[in-house]
Amino acid sequence: MTDKTLTIAYRSLQLDELAETDRQLIDAAISATETSYAPYSHFCVGAAVRLESGVVVVGSNQENVAFPSGTCAERCAMFYAGSRHPHEAPETIAIAARGTDGRLTPRPISPCGACRQVLLQAETRFGRRLRVLLYGSQEVIEISGVSDLLPFEFVDF
Ligand code: THU
Repeated sequence: MTDKTLTIAYRSLQLDELAETDRQLIDAAISATETSYAPYSHFCVGAAVRLESGVVVVGSNQENVAFPSGTCAERCAMFYAGSRHPHEAPETIAIAARGTDGRLTPRPISPCGACRQVLLQAETRFGRRLRVLLYGSQEVIEISGVSDLLPFEFVDF
């Protein structure tokens, strides 16, 4: 028997420590929260994906009365990117959210399991890491690749 431990590296930053392009991507994610359709949770999430060409694609959570038919902001943005720019690798995704009080969350929110799976597949598909920026008004978290967020991922044999 061997006990093993996994550790992940991530960075905690303030907004002004980020490069201008990353701040713009976060701004795009924040703006995208305004397009959220969240009549059930009242939790509005925005995601912005920068592709390798520099093109930015955004998405927001879109809920549905049949709850599982709705989708998260991250998958909305990723599937839109895949539909419009199928040959371009996503390079960075920024995620922001407004709580039920309408304010940007002080702490970053983190993608759900289903979104992690979808984000991870982009890494596999394009053979490059997809950087993740999680925005909170008090702290931004940077993770250098999605595989750090989903260890022991399912692989197709
Ligand atoms: N949601 C997202 O869009 N992204 C996340 O990372 C977490 C949750 C959405 C799903 C649902 O519409 C609402 O937020 C509340 O869970």
